[in-house]
Amino acid sequence: MMKKIMGAVLIVVAFMFILTACGSGSDKASGSKDTSSGADGSSDSSEENILRMATSADFPPFESRTPEGEYEGFDIDLANLVAEELGYELKIEDMKFDGLIGSLQSGRVDMVMAGMSTTEDRKKNVDFSTEYNRSGEMFISKPDAGIDSLEDLKGKTVGVQLGTIQEEGAEKLKDEYGFEVKKLDSANILIQELNSSRIDVGYMDKSVAKGYVKEQGLEGFDDPTTSSPGMGIAFPKGSELVDDVNKVLKKLEENGKLVELKDKWLSEE
Ligand code: ARG
Repeated sequence: MMKKIMGAVLIVVAFMFILTACGSGSDKASGSKDTSSGADGSSDSSEENILRMATSADFPPFESRTPEGEYEGFDIDLANLVAEELGYELKIEDMKFDGLIGSLQSGRVDMVMAGMSTTEDRKKNVDFSTEYNRSGEMFISKPDAGIDSLEDLKGKTVGVQLGTIQEEGAEKLKDEYGFEVKKLDSANILIQELNSSRIDVGYMDKSVAKGYVKEQGLEGFDDPTTSSPGMGIAFPKGSELVDDVNKVLKKLEENGKLVELKDKWLSEE
């Protein structure tokens, strides 16, 4: 009897030994795949705590960078609140707006916040949180250009940011109103092009346009044709984060933090 028990114990111990050996073996394997994360002592669990977000930081007051390179804006503050509530460390990556959806699809990042409108088209490729803000569209030009209605766009060149709903919108309007569309990589470039008269008009998000109008002494008029969907946080299709983030957004709405952020960044109205 005693012998039998001893035998069983031995077998169990042997099993445990094999299991541990396998475990550390695979640890090593994954460690050697990514030496950079091993080198600074960060373990797998700290990797899991990072929320990777992509944005296109050319869109004040939603996201831009200070001369020192620090991210700032409504989306940045909101992203930080969301990350904090969910216990993540936020890591932001800056890229062209046009590449954001792709970065979600390839799994390069976990979410995108870039003043992104929750269009039906995009919903085919990504999932969105509930909307956290609504804006409209505006046409802006230099002060003495005399462009204050759609009819005035005839024969003009209208700049839009590549991949935005404004690009799509301008494409729809250009034949009816007889203007050319110039597609630009970033909103910053768009403003530069306007200031140096390489385009006559910029077509962009109203909250963003209003900031530039004020800051750069430009002029503009509201687009009477659009009613664009609100802005949402985008995730890879099927991401489990959507529900968690929606709960946080609801909480931030209820406890007044969202309004606080709007007052801080979007109070230009
Ligand atoms: N709301 C527009 C869209 O979703 C423009 C967003 C541009 N965002 C940016 N960060 N440049 O298409």
